[in-house]
Amino acid sequence: MTLLDTLNRPLRDLRVSVTDRCNFRCVYCMPKEVFGPDYQFLHRDMVLTFEEIARLARIFTGFGVKKIRLTGGEPLVRKDFPDLLKMLSEIPDLDLTMTTNGSLLPRFADQLKRSGLKRVTVSLDSLDNQIFKSMNDVDFPVEKVIEGMDAAKAAGLEPIKVNMVVKRGVNEQSILPMARFFREKGFILRFIEYMDVGHSNGWRMNDVVSAKEIVKIIGAEMPLEPADPNYNGEVAERWRYKDGGGEIGVIASVTQAFCRDCNRARLSAEGKLYTCLFAVRGHDLREMVRGGASDEEIAQRIEGIWGKRADRYSEIRSENTIPLPKVEMSHIGG
Ligand code: GTP
Ligand code: 5AD
Ligand code: SF4
Ligand code: SF4
Repeated sequence: MTLLDTLNRPLRDLRVSVTDRCNFRCVYCMPKEVFGPDYQFLHRDMVLTFEEIARLARIFTGFGVKKIRLTGGEPLVRKDFPDLLKMLSEIPDLDLTMTTNGSLLPRFADQLKRSGLKRVTVSLDSLDNQIFKSMNDVDFPVEKVIEGMDAAKAAGLEPIKVNMVVKRGVNEQSILPMARFFREKGFILRFIEYMDVGHSNGWRMNDVVSAKEIVKIIGAEMPLEPADPNYNGEVAERWRYKDGGGEIGVIASVTQAFCRDCNRARLSAEGKLYTCLFAVRGHDLREMVRGGASDEEIAQRIEGIWGKRADRYSEIRSENTIPLPKVEMSHIGG
Protein backbone atom coordinates (compact mmCIF):
# COMPACT_ATOMS: atom_id res chain seq x y z
CA MET A 1 0.00 0.00 0.00
CA THR A 2 1.39 3.43 -0.97
CA LEU A 3 0.85 6.45 1.22
CA LEU A 4 0.64 9.86 -0.40
CA ASP A 5 1.05 13.21 1.35
CA THR A 6 -0.82 16.40 0.50
CA LEU A 7 1.64 17.07 -2.33
CA ASN A 8 1.23 13.53 -3.73
CA ARG A 9 4.62 12.37 -2.52
CA PRO A 10 4.90 8.70 -1.56
CA LEU A 11 6.75 7.41 1.49
CA ARG A 12 9.74 5.40 0.25
CA ASP A 13 12.76 6.13 2.37
CA LEU A 14 13.07 5.83 6.15
CA ARG A 15 16.05 7.31 7.96
CA VAL A 16 16.46 5.98 11.46
CA SER A 17 18.68 7.69 14.01
CA VAL A 18 19.88 5.07 16.47
CA THR A 19 21.63 7.45 18.87
CA ASP A 20 21.99 11.18 19.45
CA ARG A 21 25.62 10.68 20.52
CA CYS A 22 28.72 11.08 18.42
CA ASN A 23 32.47 10.85 18.96
CA PHE A 24 33.00 13.89 16.70
CA ARG A 25 32.02 17.50 17.29
CA CYS A 26 31.70 18.76 13.71
CA VAL A 27 31.38 22.52 13.81
CA TYR A 28 28.39 22.49 11.46
CA CYS A 29 26.52 19.78 13.37
CA MET A 30 27.46 19.42 17.05
CA PRO A 31 29.49 22.52 17.93
CA LYS A 32 31.36 22.10 21.21
CA GLU A 33 29.93 25.28 22.69
CA VAL A 34 26.51 23.62 22.64
CA PHE A 35 27.40 19.92 22.81
CA GLY A 36 29.94 20.29 25.65
CA PRO A 37 30.65 18.08 28.68
CA ASP A 38 27.40 19.17 30.35
CA TYR A 39 25.16 18.47 27.37
CA GLN A 40 22.29 16.20 28.32
CA PHE A 41 22.08 13.39 25.81
CA LEU A 42 19.00 11.17 25.75
CA HIS A 43 18.75 8.86 28.71
CA ARG A 44 18.90 5.15 27.79
CA ASP A 45 15.24 4.59 28.64
CA MET A 46 14.21 7.29 26.18
CA VAL A 47 15.94 5.61 23.26
CA LEU A 48 14.07 3.02 21.21
CA THR A 49 15.31 -0.53 21.70
CA PHE A 50 16.38 -2.55 18.66
CA GLU A 51 13.18 -4.58 18.92
CA GLU A 52 11.13 -1.38 18.87
CA ILE A 53 13.03 -0.02 15.87
CA ALA A 54 12.66 -3.30 13.97
CA ARG A 55 8.95 -3.41 14.70
CA LEU A 56 8.42 0.13 13.43
CA ALA A 57 10.62 -0.59 10.41
CA ARG A 58 8.38 -3.49 9.44
CA ILE A 59 5.30 -1.33 9.74
CA PHE A 60 6.93 1.32 7.54
CA THR A 61 7.91 -1.21 4.90
CA GLY A 62 4.26 -2.21 4.75
CA PHE A 63 3.70 1.24 3.23
CA GLY A 64 6.25 0.71 0.49
CA VAL A 65 9.43 1.91 2.17
CA LYS A 66 12.28 0.49 0.09
CA LYS A 67 15.32 1.94 1.81
CA ILE A 68 16.31 2.18 5.44
CA ARG A 69 19.28 4.34 6.24
CA LEU A 70 20.68 4.13 9.75
CA THR A 71 22.12 7.35 11.08
CA GLY A 72 22.92 9.05 14.37
CA GLY A 73 24.73 10.97 15.80
CA GLU A 74 27.22 8.29 14.91
CA PRO A 75 25.42 4.94 14.58
CA LEU A 76 28.51 2.89 15.40
CA VAL A 77 28.78 4.32 18.91
CA ARG A 78 25.50 2.56 19.79
CA LYS A 79 26.29 -0.63 21.71
CA ASP A 80 25.70 -3.87 19.79
CA PHE A 81 24.65 -1.97 16.66
CA PRO A 82 25.21 -5.03 14.38
CA ASP A 83 22.40 -6.80 16.26
CA LEU A 84 19.97 -4.24 14.87
CA LEU A 85 21.23 -4.94 11.36
CA LYS A 86 20.57 -8.62 11.83
CA MET A 87 16.96 -7.87 12.70
CA LEU A 88 16.43 -5.42 9.84
CA SER A 89 18.12 -7.62 7.27
CA GLU A 90 15.30 -10.13 7.69
CA ILE A 91 12.97 -7.66 5.97
CA PRO A 92 12.92 -8.62 2.27
CA ASP A 93 13.82 -6.32 -0.65
CA LEU A 94 15.31 -3.59 1.45
CA ASP A 95 18.23 -1.31 0.62
CA LEU A 96 19.82 -1.37 4.07
CA THR A 97 22.48 1.23 4.48
CA MET A 98 24.07 3.68 6.91
CA THR A 99 25.77 7.05 7.11
CA THR A 100 28.85 7.08 9.35
CA ASN A 101 31.84 9.24 10.15
CA GLY A 102 33.99 6.18 9.43
CA SER A 103 36.01 6.33 12.64
CA LEU A 104 34.90 2.89 13.84
CA LEU A 105 34.73 1.16 10.47
CA PRO A 106 38.18 -0.44 10.71
CA ARG A 107 36.87 -2.32 13.74
CA PHE A 108 33.34 -3.06 12.53
CA ALA A 109 33.24 -3.29 8.73
CA ASP A 110 33.38 -7.09 8.46
CA GLN A 111 30.85 -7.58 11.20
CA LEU A 112 28.49 -5.05 9.60
CA LYS A 113 28.64 -6.93 6.31
CA ARG A 114 28.01 -10.26 8.02
CA SER A 115 25.05 -8.73 9.86
CA GLY A 116 23.34 -7.74 6.62
CA LEU A 117 24.40 -4.16 5.87
CA LYS A 118 24.51 -3.63 2.09
CA ARG A 119 26.56 -0.44 1.65
CA VAL A 120 27.90 2.60 3.50
CA THR A 121 28.23 6.33 3.08
CA VAL A 122 31.18 7.86 4.92
CA SER A 123 31.51 11.55 5.76
CA LEU A 124 34.84 13.28 5.16
CA ASP A 125 35.26 17.01 4.72
CA SER A 126 38.91 17.37 3.71
CA LEU A 127 42.11 15.45 3.03
CA ASP A 128 44.09 18.11 4.82
CA ASN A 129 44.51 17.16 8.46
CA GLN A 130 44.60 20.72 9.69
CA ILE A 131 41.30 21.51 7.98
CA PHE A 132 39.64 18.19 8.80
CA LYS A 133 40.60 18.38 12.45
CA SER A 134 39.35 21.95 12.69
CA MET A 135 36.01 20.68 11.35
CA ASN A 136 35.60 17.47 13.41
CA ASP A 137 36.98 19.37 16.42
CA VAL A 138 38.19 16.22 18.20
CA ASP A 139 41.60 15.98 16.51
CA PHE A 140 40.55 12.95 14.46
CA PRO A 141 42.99 12.28 11.59
CA VAL A 142 42.07 11.89 7.91
CA GLU A 143 44.08 8.64 7.57
CA LYS A 144 41.85 6.81 10.04
CA VAL A 145 38.71 7.70 8.09
CA ILE A 146 40.29 6.51 4.87
CA GLU A 147 41.31 3.33 6.65
CA GLY A 148 37.65 2.92 7.54
CA MET A 149 36.57 3.40 3.92
CA ASP A 150 39.13 0.83 2.78
CA ALA A 151 37.90 -1.61 5.41
CA ALA A 152 34.35 -1.10 4.11
CA LYS A 153 35.50 -1.77 0.56
CA ALA A 154 37.40 -4.89 1.60
CA ALA A 155 34.26 -6.11 3.38
CA GLY A 156 32.21 -5.58 0.21
CA LEU A 157 30.00 -2.76 1.53
CA GLU A 158 29.78 -1.21 -1.94
CA PRO A 159 29.17 1.15 -3.63
CA ILE A 160 30.97 3.37 -1.15
CA LYS A 161 29.88 6.97 -1.14
CA VAL A 162 31.68 9.86 0.52
CA ASN A 163 29.89 12.95 1.85
CA MET A 164 31.72 16.27 2.01
CA VAL A 165 29.96 19.27 3.53
CA VAL A 166 31.41 22.39 1.95
CA LYS A 167 31.66 25.53 4.06
CA ARG A 168 32.89 28.77 2.51
CA GLY A 169 36.28 29.88 3.77
CA VAL A 170 36.73 26.63 5.70
CA ASN A 171 37.22 23.72 3.28
CA GLU A 172 36.59 25.22 -0.15
CA GLN A 173 40.20 24.59 -1.11
CA SER A 174 39.68 20.87 -0.41
CA ILE A 175 37.14 20.46 -3.24
CA LEU A 176 39.65 19.66 -5.98
CA PRO A 177 42.02 17.47 -3.94
CA MET A 178 39.02 15.46 -2.70
CA ALA A 179 37.67 15.09 -6.26
CA ARG A 180 41.03 13.90 -7.60
CA PHE A 181 41.61 11.48 -4.74
CA PHE A 182 38.22 9.77 -4.80
CA ARG A 183 38.09 9.64 -8.59
CA GLU A 184 41.30 7.66 -8.38
CA LYS A 185 39.91 5.44 -5.64
CA GLY A 186 36.61 4.82 -7.41
CA PHE A 187 34.37 6.03 -4.57
CA ILE A 188 31.40 8.29 -5.30
CA LEU A 189 32.13 11.67 -3.75
CA ARG A 190 29.15 13.92 -3.03
CA PHE A 191 29.46 17.58 -2.18
CA ILE A 192 26.79 18.87 0.19
CA GLU A 193 25.78 22.48 0.44
CA TYR A 194 26.09 23.59 4.04
CA MET A 195 22.55 23.68 5.46
CA ASP A 196 20.76 25.64 8.15
CA VAL A 197 19.70 22.55 10.06
CA GLY A 198 19.13 22.69 13.79
CA HIS A 199 19.64 25.93 15.66
CA SER A 200 23.22 25.57 16.90
CA ASN A 201 25.48 25.93 13.90
CA GLY A 202 25.11 29.68 13.30
CA TRP A 203 24.39 29.15 9.60
CA ARG A 204 24.58 32.13 7.23
CA MET A 205 23.83 32.12 3.50
CA ASN A 206 27.33 33.51 2.90
CA ASP A 207 28.82 30.26 4.22
CA VAL A 208 27.24 28.24 1.40
CA VAL A 209 29.29 27.27 -1.63
CA SER A 210 26.70 26.44 -4.29
CA ALA A 211 26.59 23.15 -6.13
CA LYS A 212 26.86 25.10 -9.37
CA GLU A 213 30.11 26.64 -8.23
CA ILE A 214 31.46 23.24 -7.15
CA VAL A 215 30.66 21.61 -10.50
CA LYS A 216 32.36 24.53 -12.24
CA ILE A 217 35.52 24.23 -10.16
CA ILE A 218 35.84 20.49 -10.79
CA GLY A 219 34.70 20.60 -14.41
CA ALA A 220 37.39 23.14 -15.28
CA GLU A 221 40.05 20.55 -14.50
CA MET A 222 38.20 17.29 -15.12
CA PRO A 223 35.33 17.79 -17.61
CA LEU A 224 31.91 16.66 -16.39
CA GLU A 225 28.54 15.89 -17.94
CA PRO A 226 25.19 15.45 -16.20
CA ALA A 227 23.98 11.90 -15.52
CA ASP A 228 20.41 10.68 -14.94
CA PRO A 229 19.21 10.05 -11.40
CA ASN A 230 19.40 6.48 -10.10
CA TYR A 231 15.92 6.71 -8.64
CA ASN A 232 13.06 9.12 -8.25
CA GLY A 233 13.71 11.53 -5.39
CA GLU A 234 17.48 11.03 -5.26
CA VAL A 235 18.91 13.96 -3.32
CA ALA A 236 22.25 14.01 -5.11
CA GLU A 237 22.44 15.38 -8.65
CA ARG A 238 24.85 13.10 -10.51
CA TRP A 239 27.72 14.26 -12.73
CA ARG A 240 29.92 11.90 -14.70
CA TYR A 241 33.54 12.47 -15.71
CA LYS A 242 33.56 12.73 -19.50
CA ASP A 243 36.59 10.46 -19.78
CA GLY A 244 34.76 7.62 -18.03
CA GLY A 245 36.58 8.09 -14.74
CA GLY A 246 33.54 7.67 -12.51
CA GLU A 247 31.08 10.16 -11.08
CA ILE A 248 30.45 12.76 -8.40
CA GLY A 249 27.25 14.07 -6.84
CA VAL A 250 26.15 17.46 -5.60
CA ILE A 251 23.46 17.91 -2.99
CA ALA A 252 22.05 21.36 -3.56
CA SER A 253 19.44 21.51 -0.87
CA VAL A 254 19.95 25.25 -0.37
CA THR A 255 20.26 26.57 -3.93
CA GLN A 256 18.13 24.02 -5.81
CA ALA A 257 15.63 22.53 -3.40
CA PHE A 258 14.40 19.02 -4.09
CA CYS A 259 11.30 18.98 -1.87
CA ARG A 260 9.06 18.22 -4.83
CA ASP A 261 10.15 14.58 -4.83
CA CYS A 262 10.90 14.23 -1.14
CA ASN A 263 9.82 10.77 -0.06
CA ARG A 264 11.78 10.62 3.20
CA ALA A 265 10.59 10.15 6.75
CA ARG A 266 12.90 10.34 9.74
CA LEU A 267 12.63 8.46 12.98
CA SER A 268 14.61 9.95 15.85
CA ALA A 269 16.44 7.88 18.45
CA GLU A 270 13.65 8.61 20.93
CA GLY A 271 10.98 7.41 18.55
CA LYS A 272 9.63 10.62 17.09
CA LEU A 273 8.60 10.71 13.47
CA TYR A 274 9.74 13.80 11.55
CA THR A 275 8.33 14.51 8.12
CA CYS A 276 11.05 17.04 7.24
CA LEU A 277 14.72 17.53 8.06
CA PHE A 278 13.84 21.05 9.12
CA ALA A 279 10.83 20.19 11.22
CA VAL A 280 10.26 22.05 14.44
CA ARG A 281 8.52 19.10 16.06
CA GLY A 282 8.16 15.37 15.62
CA HIS A 283 5.28 12.97 16.26
CA ASP A 284 5.85 10.62 19.17
CA LEU A 285 5.52 6.96 18.23
CA ARG A 286 7.34 5.60 21.29
CA GLU A 287 4.39 6.16 23.57
CA MET A 288 2.20 4.04 21.32
CA VAL A 289 4.86 1.37 20.92
CA ARG A 290 5.30 1.14 24.67
CA GLY A 291 1.63 1.62 25.47
CA GLY A 292 0.45 -1.65 23.97
CA ALA A 293 -0.79 -0.34 20.61
CA SER A 294 -1.21 -2.93 17.87
CA ASP A 295 0.70 -2.78 14.56
CA GLU A 296 -2.53 -1.69 12.85
CA GLU A 297 -3.01 1.18 15.28
CA ILE A 298 0.55 2.36 14.78
CA ALA A 299 0.15 2.03 11.00
CA GLN A 300 -2.99 4.15 11.15
CA ARG A 301 -1.17 6.84 13.07
CA ILE A 302 1.66 6.91 10.50
CA GLU A 303 -0.92 7.07 7.72
CA GLY A 304 -2.57 10.02 9.43
CA ILE A 305 0.72 11.87 9.85
CA TRP A 306 1.93 11.27 6.27
CA GLY A 307 -1.50 12.08 4.86
CA LYS A 308 -1.31 15.59 6.37
CA ARG A 309 2.31 16.19 5.35
CA ALA A 310 2.90 19.45 3.48
CA ASP A 311 6.59 20.13 4.26
CA ARG A 312 8.77 21.84 1.70
CA TYR A 313 11.11 23.86 3.85
CA SER A 314 13.98 24.18 1.38
CA GLU A 315 11.68 25.50 -1.32
CA ILE A 316 10.35 28.27 0.84
CA ARG A 317 13.52 29.09 2.74
CA SER A 318 14.72 32.62 2.28
CA GLU A 319 17.68 34.50 3.60
CA ASN A 320 15.29 36.22 5.96
CA THR A 321 13.77 33.08 7.40
CA ILE A 322 13.14 33.73 11.05
CA PRO A 323 15.09 31.02 12.88
CA LEU A 324 12.76 28.65 14.67
CA PRO A 325 14.13 26.11 17.16
CA LYS A 326 14.39 23.30 14.58
CA VAL A 327 15.36 19.77 15.55
CA GLU A 328 19.12 19.17 15.71
CA MET A 329 20.76 17.17 12.93
CA SER A 330 22.31 14.84 15.50
CA HIS A 331 18.80 13.88 16.63
CA ILE A 332 17.53 12.88 13.22
CA GLY A 333 20.70 12.03 11.36
CA GLY A 334 20.54 14.48 8.49
P1 GTP B 1 21.67 7.49 -1.23
O1 GTP B 1 20.81 6.36 -0.78
O2 GTP B 1 23.05 7.02 -1.44
O3 GTP B 1 21.09 8.25 -2.37
O4 GTP B 1 21.77 8.43 0.08
P2 GTP B 1 21.35 9.88 0.50
O5 GTP B 1 22.10 10.84 -0.33
O6 GTP B 1 19.88 9.98 0.51
O7 GTP B 1 21.83 9.92 2.05
P3 GTP B 1 22.92 10.69 2.90
O8 GTP B 1 22.71 10.31 4.33
O9 GTP B 1 24.27 10.43 2.38
O10 GTP B 1 22.55 12.20 2.71
C1 GTP B 1 23.31 13.09 2.00
C2 GTP B 1 23.03 14.51 2.40
O11 GTP B 1 21.76 14.92 1.93
C3 GTP B 1 23.03 14.76 3.90
O12 GTP B 1 23.65 15.99 4.21
C4 GTP B 1 21.59 14.83 4.23
O13 GTP B 1 21.37 15.64 5.34
C5 GTP B 1 21.03 15.46 2.97
N1 GTP B 1 19.65 15.06 2.82
C6 GTP B 1 19.19 13.78 2.75
N2 GTP B 1 17.87 13.79 2.64
C7 GTP B 1 17.49 15.09 2.65
C8 GTP B 1 16.25 15.76 2.57
O14 GTP B 1 15.20 15.13 2.50
N3 GTP B 1 16.25 17.11 2.61
C9 GTP B 1 17.38 17.83 2.71
N4 GTP B 1 17.27 19.14 2.72
N5 GTP B 1 18.59 17.24 2.79
C10 GTP B 1 18.63 15.90 2.76
N1 5AD C 1 24.74 20.86 6.36
C1 5AD C 1 24.94 19.89 5.42
N2 5AD C 1 25.25 18.62 5.73
C2 5AD C 1 25.38 18.31 7.01
N3 5AD C 1 25.69 17.15 7.61
C3 5AD C 1 25.69 17.34 8.95
N4 5AD C 1 25.38 18.62 9.24
C4 5AD C 1 25.20 19.25 8.04
C5 5AD C 1 24.86 20.58 7.67
N5 5AD C 1 24.66 21.54 8.56
C6 5AD C 1 26.00 15.92 6.86
C7 5AD C 1 26.99 15.01 7.52
C8 5AD C 1 26.65 13.66 6.94
C9 5AD C 1 25.25 13.81 6.45
C10 5AD C 1 24.27 12.84 6.96
O1 5AD C 1 24.85 15.12 6.77
O2 5AD C 1 28.31 15.36 7.23
O3 5AD C 1 27.48 13.34 5.88
FE1 SF4 D 1 28.92 13.41 14.33
FE2 SF4 D 1 28.18 13.24 11.78
FE3 SF4 D 1 27.36 15.29 13.27
FE4 SF4 D 1 29.90 15.12 12.58
S1 SF4 D 1 28.16 15.38 11.17
S2 SF4 D 1 29.13 15.61 14.65
S3 SF4 D 1 30.25 12.95 12.60
S4 SF4 D 1 26.83 13.17 13.59
FE1 SF4 E 1 12.22 16.94 2.24
FE2 SF4 E 1 12.10 18.84 4.07
FE3 SF4 E 1 14.38 18.31 2.77
FE4 SF4 E 1 12.33 19.49 1.50
S1 SF4 E 1 13.51 20.35 3.18
S2 SF4 E 1 13.63 17.82 0.74
S3 SF4 E 1 10.60 18.46 2.47
S4 SF4 E 1 13.29 16.95 4.18
